[in-house]
Amino acid sequence: MQHSTGRILTFEILRFNPQNPQSKPKVVCYQLEETPGMSIFIALNEIREKQEPSLQFDFVCRAGICGSCAMVINGKPMLACRTQTKTFEHPKITLMPMPVFELIGDLSVNTGKAMREMAEKVETWVHDKRQDWVDITRLEEKMEPELADQIYELDRCIECGICLAACGTKRMREDFLGAVGFMKVARFLADPRDHREEDDFYDLLGNDKGVFGCMSLMGCEDFCPKELPHQQQIAYIRRKILFATG
Ligand code: SF4
Ligand code: FES
Repeated sequence: MQHSTGRILTFEILRFNPQNPQSKPKVVCYQLEETPGMSIFIALNEIREKQEPSLQFDFVCRAGICGSCAMVINGKPMLACRTQTKTFEHPKITLMPMPVFELIGDLSVNTGKAMREMAEKVETWVHDKRQDWVDITRLEEKMEPELADQIYELDRCIECGICLAACGTKRMREDFLGAVGFMKVARFLADPRDHREEDDFYDLLGNDKGVFGCMSLMGCEDFCPKELPHQQQIAYIRRKILFATG
């Protein structure tokens, strides 16, 4: 059994079930003893196990890999499994669901649906214009290790949705693609196996809903748990598609 750190934490958690017409959004307080190494995820599990079995929140990996546990912790979008309670000096911690996404219930939001829509919009797969079928007997194309590293770096996104929840433009304009979509585009722009031209990407995001709508508020870069270089990539895409279209 874990020892207590001596602190009693108070969690103020938004409770709301949009599926139930009787449910009204309200903040409910739960208290528990802090233990060493306690993460927000561990605290939520304890609350669900011992106090409130109906509490909804998401998790899969508990290791900052799956991206499912993102929520707004003390006003900032973060991963619950990677956030330790000891980082908060004050023992009162507020937990809210991320804005921008469809609310499933309490702290659980439908990032999967938003990510699927984004993936369909920017077609997040390698487009090989030489053929519209996949030859599974063909040998894998060789790639310079530096380029493979560059693509790997851009592919580290865990689709947690934090960059969208932290984005002022996205909060104002629902149709704004947002940083996660731009990062995917940057990844396919860098990939020589994708035969889409800069013009194709211009048609896709050379407007206010795309890269030219970004107001450089930097929320994506400040909060992305994978520390992806969002502003650099947005500038890269702008340069690529503008120079290509002259
Ligand atoms: S870009 Fe970063 S913040 Fe946005 S979804 Fe991917 S990992 Fe999350
Ligand atoms: S549970 Fe997978 S990232 Fe937190």
